[in-house]
Amino acid sequence: MGRLQDKVCIITGAAGGQGQVAVKLFAEQGAKIIASDLPEQPTAAIAEVMRDFPGQVHYVRGDVIVNRDLDAIVNTAITEFGRIDVLFNNHGVMVGSPLLETTEQELDDVLDINVRASFLLCQRVARHMVAQGNGGSIILNSSIGGVLGFPDMAAYGASKAGVAQLARSMANDLRDHKIRVNAITPGAIDTPMPHKYLEKFEDREEIWKAMEKAHLAGRLGRPEEVIWLVIFLASDEASFMNGAVVPVDGGYSCV
Ligand SMILES: NC(=O)c1ccc[n+]([C@@H]2O[C@H](COP(=O)([O-])OP(=O)(O)OC[C@H]3O[C@@H](n4cnc5c(N)ncnc54)[C@H](O)[C@@H]3O)[C@@H](O)[C@H]2O)c1
Repeated sequence: MGRLQDKVCIITGAAGGQGQVAVKLFAEQGAKIIASDLPEQPTAAIAEVMRDFPGQVHYVRGDVIVNRDLDAIVNTAITEFGRIDVLFNNHGVMVGSPLLETTEQELDDVLDINVRASFLLCQRVARHMVAQGNGGSIILNSSIGGVLGFPDMAAYGASKAGVAQLARSMANDLRDHKIRVNAITPGAIDTPMPHKYLEKFEDREEIWKAMEKAHLAGRLGRPEEVIWLVIFLASDEASFMNGAVVPVDGGYSCV
């Protein structure tokens, strides 16, 4: 019996570094999954999980800034599995740009994708959970950048602080419906995101080493080290976790 046995779970950003690992580990824990991201077709890693766990995973192509795509994600969960128990709101984009150079377009994009779309998706999912009447768990992927100040991260940091605050506030609004809402704040995790950020720097190897050193662990995190926390928060084991913003940062934020 898996820790998420038969729970219907939506995972956004499913084609990304953390998302693909979430799809696999959630499936291994018995979840029924709606995996969604921008590519038309499931990635090879998602397709492999679909093969290994027949009928357990459905992929929905969706751009979270498009409302009808949010509807499609939610409606597919209902038509395929009849309910929604868990949302792992994981999609995100990073803008690593100095304050004085950040464009309005970059600011709008990061706020729309990370905050606005997360609000609207959580709202849609919560409405279904309320109607179902037996609670649920929503987990939002914030960031250490939403808790601490970093250079070149004003727009991203503000968006991720907003994501953490969504969890605290929504937990209050949903308390009477037994819907728990928590956020996680990962440190730097070895996925395509930090690699893309470093592309523009010539001394990217030194920056990478400095990033590693900034974590007490002396390295970046691995996606599964984040996803095990997400699985705990999604599961009934976390019944007393609500409105929390939980670091998973290899000790970065305790220094
Ligand atoms: N990697 C890190 O160091 C790190 C640290 C802290 C928090 N995070 C957060 O973790 C989450 C997962 O990131 P990751 O590390 O897997 O990076 P990633 O770039 O591999 O994954 C992000 C995913 O979000 C998807 N996405 C972006 N815009 C979208 C849109 N408009 N519609 C639908 N999907 C969209 C991307 O396609 C991508 O698959 C993100 O919210 C990120 O901000 C990452």
